[in-house]
Amino acid sequence: MKKNILIVPGDGIGQEVTAVGKKVLDKIAAKFGHEFIYDEALIGHVAIEATGNPLPEESLEKMKRSDAILFGAVGHPKYDNDPSAKVRPEQGLLRMRKELGLYANLRPIKLFDELLGASSIKPEILKGADILFFRELTGDIYFGEKGRKNNGDTAYDVAEYSRYEVERIARKAFDAARTRRKKLCSVDKANVIETSRLWREVIQSIAVEYPDVTVEHQFVDATAMLLIKDPRRFDVIVTANLFGDILTDEASQIAGSMGMLASASIGDGTGVYEPIHGSAHDITGKGIANPLASILSAALLLDISFGLKEESDVIINAVDAVLKAGFRTKDIADATTPAAKILGTNAMGEEVLQRI
Ligand code: IPM
Ligand code: MN
Repeated sequence: MKKNILIVPGDGIGQEVTAVGKKVLDKIAAKFGHEFIYDEALIGHVAIEATGNPLPEESLEKMKRSDAILFGAVGHPKYDNDPSAKVRPEQGLLRMRKELGLYANLRPIKLFDELLGASSIKPEILKGADILFFRELTGDIYFGEKGRKNNGDTAYDVAEYSRYEVERIARKAFDAARTRRKKLCSVDKANVIETSRLWREVIQSIAVEYPDVTVEHQFVDATAMLLIKDPRRFDVIVTANLFGDILTDEASQIAGSMGMLASASIGDGTGVYEPIHGSAHDITGKGIANPLASILSAALLLDISFGLKEESDVIINAVDAVLKAGFRTKDIADATTPAAKILGTNAMGEEVLQRI
């Protein structure tokens, strides 16, 4: 198979982990006889520094032309501490999502058994947990009108959803539930928020087309509690942009660490595959970032965008084998991990490559 893959490392540890994810794609190409042609593009803080624009047109053009995108992270503490900054790295990411029509963000939360001890949640509560989040990605309070009034003393962000936006993400989530344990939990705040009432109405109307899928509706506050109390009760969860952002960070603890979680953003065109963790400037340049989320993002890319399921499984099995062999990056090590088994970013990548 011949494909064009765009590497978009972005900021902070995005650079370090994406380099490892790319090596894994290379190894797969060599092993299975595929030809992957790579290009690179700027986004985020590095793009602002180079061009003044968090998503330069040249990057956007490359994105639209590529067959799939392996993405790193965006963000820089400089902007986090300056609420008045007009240009921000995150604007690049949000614009990319909108321009590429990436309305469905899949975040699989799956715990590798070897990491049961790495989470702050008790192993007996976690064992066997396997949740697939569908986070809506191009609507909600993220993209509504925002601004200031009253001489800047009042701020507003409008949350908006249209029926078709809920319908299309709902269908994706229902379809996925069908291939899994046939349970769908839709999360909203319909007791308070109007967009949530539309959300629930639409989910109920689509549910009729999927009589084989059991649907439940939960409020977001209760879901935040249930995820920690009993994560195994969930199969597929579908929710709005902001709720999904928050709940998936919480749910990352079910998988032991944010450093383990990959995500796929799909929709109308080119798919984007990225770790759910951020740019992590506190550990940038130290060579200790966990590359497994980027490696698992590469696995999702092969599976979802190229239909290469076998290749994807080879990567996941290699990660599993590395964990079984006892190797850990710092974020997933626990008190019982011998110092000699705690690896940096590249060494961890090498262990995975060897097992592919
Ligand atoms: C994520 C991130 C982004 C989001 C930020 C960086 C804008 O937290 O992908 O989850 O809020 O969507
Ligand atoms: Mn987030």
